Amino acid sequence: MLRIPSSESPFLKALAGQTNAPPPIWLMRQAGRYLPEYREVRSKVSSFLDLCRTPELAAEVTLQPLRRFDLDAAIVFSDILIVPYALGQKVEFVEGEGPKLEPVSDARGLARLSKGSAAKAFAPVYETIERVRAELPRTVPLIGFCGAPWTVATYMVEGGGSKDQAEARLWAYREQANFQRLIDLLVDTSADYLLGQVAAGAGALQIFDSWAGSLPEDEFARWCIAPTRRLVEQVKAKAPDIPVIGFPRGSGVLAEHYARETGIDAIGCDTSQPIEWIRDRLQNLMPVQGNLDPLLLVAGGPHLDRRVASILAALGSGPFIFNLGHGIQPGTPIENVERLLHLVKTGSA
Ligand code: CP3
Repeated sequence: MLRIPSSESPFLKALAGQTNAPPPIWLMRQAGRYLPEYREVRSKVSSFLDLCRTPELAAEVTLQPLRRFDLDAAIVFSDILIVPYALGQKVEFVEGEGPKLEPVSDARGLARLSKGSAAKAFAPVYETIERVRAELPRTVPLIGFCGAPWTVATYMVEGGGSKDQAEARLWAYREQANFQRLIDLLVDTSADYLLGQVAAGAGALQIFDSWAGSLPEDEFARWCIAPTRRLVEQVKAKAPDIPVIGFPRGSGVLAEHYARETGIDAIGCDTSQPIEWIRDRLQNLMPVQGNLDPLLLVAGGPHLDRRVASILAALGSGPFIFNLGHGIQPGTPIENVERLLHLVKTGSA
């Protein structure tokens, strides 16, 4: 397969450790409900999962933000919960409520999960990637992704999103060996999934650990760092040249251990991490990505301009990819996204 030479992509250059002026930019959840053209496509299918499983439509919504904005990377339109679905767990997205899964919380639930038909469940995502790759300009990389084993496990155990991931944390404390089996299954399945995305044309990967922040340090090492390290090792064994971004959201100062120990190439930073701390403790280790508050992009105005300028001043003189600290919000005004792109691309108001 044709690879993009990294010299032609500011995003890949940043991931390789180079400093770019202006820095490259993409936005987590850049395809989604804040775009009228997304809502239009979304209204044609009855469920969000059907959208993810229909390559023609998923490819279309992947490309939508790239047509509007001068973004430096695309991210394949799918969801981290495709992995539990591929393992045979019942997954639904209930309108206005978010994901609902049939919870797995004991050995019997574990025994029902199987990698057997995972490849079949992943096939539409691979086809989406092939379709997007055929349409994207050669110099714009497509990011493949998965959820980190810990974060995906929390959804599987809780049966959906939760405030503090208490069920998953309790299961991990009470029955460490069983929880470890779930994590191991997720490591192996996610490695296959990421490698399948690379084979289909993904030129970079991101691992979303959205709930990394709910664990104390020993458990963070056991359930976030160690499985991510194994996942990255398995991917690197077969795709050594594909850069991997890790995003341990909410991990605070523990992000430094995560950066040193997981084998990732770059680290995503969330809104709570101070930019000077990111510069001094993370950017000296590897390229960093982040970390504008998605709500500030909703609010806009002079506060947005000032914060973008501070982020650029703190992080722009090292390897850096501009992004949000979490996904874009559905109520984000399009003109604020345009303003952000203008600020980052020109470095001025
Ligand atoms: O543009 C992109 O970034 C690619 C698409 C993408 C989606 N989800 C589409 C989506 C990506 C990268 C994700 C990752 C994801 N999914 C995460 C990790 C990042 C994060 O936000 O912490 C998580 C935790 C999920 C699980 C998930 N999917 C939840 C909790 C929800 C419900 C909340 C919501 O925003 O509705 C989803 C649904 C979802 N995933 C939507 C989109 C566009 C909205 C559903 C719709 O359009 O009907």
